[in-house]
Amino acid sequence: RKEHTLSIIKPDAVSKNIIGAIINRFEISGLVVVSVQMLQLTWKQASEFYYVHRNKFFFNDLIQFMTSGLIFIQILEGDCAIQRNREIIGATNPSDALSGTIRADYGENYTRNAIHGSDSKSSAQFEISYFFDK
Ligand code: CMP
Repeated sequence: RKEHTLSIIKPDAVSKNIIGAIINRFEISGLVVVSVQMLQLTWKQASEFYYVHRNKFFFNDLIQFMTSGLIFIQILEGDCAIQRNREIIGATNPSDALSGTIRADYGENYTRNAIHGSDSKSSAQFEISYFFDK
């Protein structure tokens, strides 16, 4: 069944000039880019977007990093897009990510891990509406 998920190419990956390389992986696996935005988040926006993590020890580092430069946001569409996207991305910690995944190939550590992808149907709905609700 057709599904939508939110993907964010993070400031580390944008700085490395690998937006195209990452998008290519989505396209090869059958995911379709249907909407995009490129912007630099404010502290308020990043905190609202990641509010589920507000009490975690890493929250401040996460928000600091996500507001540090341009990000490239996409809505991806496809069959089982949420799960498929998560498989292509790999584990949160690049050291734990399976070889051939985006985070294994381009991530550096927990914070500078190249990409974000929605982790469930409900987070996909929240995250898409956060940036694209019209
Ligand atoms: P992301 O998919 O953007 O969702 C939340 C982010 O928090 C995650 O990627 C990581 O960058 C960060 N994060 C999650 N767990 C940890 C952790 N244990 N230590 C540091 N950062 C983390």
